[in-house]
Amino acid sequence: MTIVTGVTVRVPAKINLQLAVGPPRADGYHSLVTVFHAVSLFDEVIAEPAGRDGVTVTGEGAARVPAGPDNLALRAVAALRKAVAGPAAGRKASTRVGPAGVHITIAKRIPVAAGLAGGSADAAAALVACNELWGGRLSQPHLLEAAARVGSDVAFALLGGTAVGRGRGERLTPALAPATQYHWVLAFADGHLSTPGVYAALDRRRAAAAGGTGGPAQGAPAEPDLDAALMSALRSGEARLVGQALSNDLQPAALSLFPALRKTLAAGLELGALGALVAGSGPTCVFLAASADRALDLAVSLSGAGVCRSVARVTGPVAGAAVVPPSK
Ligand code: C5P
Repeated sequence: MTIVTGVTVRVPAKINLQLAVGPPRADGYHSLVTVFHAVSLFDEVIAEPAGRDGVTVTGEGAARVPAGPDNLALRAVAALRKAVAGPAAGRKASTRVGPAGVHITIAKRIPVAAGLAGGSADAAAALVACNELWGGRLSQPHLLEAAARVGSDVAFALLGGTAVGRGRGERLTPALAPATQYHWVLAFADGHLSTPGVYAALDRRRAAAAGGTGGPAQGAPAEPDLDAALMSALRSGEARLVGQALSNDLQPAALSLFPALRKTLAAGLELGALGALVAGSGPTCVFLAASADRALDLAVSLSGAGVCRSVARVTGPVAGAAVVPPSK
């Protein structure tokens, strides 16, 4: 008999095909409408029973990830523990509470502070791994609730695919679309952007554009709308139409803080990308290619053009956080 001591979960990065940002709310978050899309760039997270909670991070940008209780994956463990102990957890009566602590090991391939929700992905993976380790006590809807409490993008990393996000991004509706596989090129930047910093820059730009006297909400649209052209492009499954409909309200703010990205976006479009945009709050740039071959051409040319640190070819949509079966 094999004794399984740890659970391994693979979790994807996300891009936003639309990111429409409304005014800041009383809690400091912005109401938004977004179309999330999970792509095939994965972190791997292992959860193992331990005396107390802890985290080890290896791989791409590991030194920038907090190793203490601020680590989003550890916050997810704490949120899950609380949800499991709660009265409405929907748990199976036959299982008992797990050991005192969990050690989380994160192998990063998703760059940190890159606009790809890598930290949220790790949190989602930690939720799935610990839930499995503790006997699968939370159902998917309860896991999604716990995820939403940890961060705005965590619930989507659980769900994967392509989905519309509302609220601060945590209220999800899967997008009904044909099973088209899209070919993307990610251009990683030499530098980082802070998500709160980019949202704040957007507020300042909007206030300045509206005359500059009405506070942070001035100049923002009342409530953002889902882009009908993007949704119809996704329903058609035509990459050309999807490429034309990509949009990101955070892009001008990200470009103002990281002007070199203009050159990266322009280079990708000149090299034949069907569409280009900054990923989330940046600074990663995303390009849509017409096929796997065109994505390869684009990736090679972009790295040759010297407009980014490195490139990756990915496809989407892919499934959300999932347990990797132990190898025999
Ligand atoms: O929820 P999460 O911790 O991922 O958000 C990081 C930061 O991004 C927030 O503290 C906030 O400054 C900003 N944010 C926002 N509105 C959103 C999502 C994130 O202002 N809908």
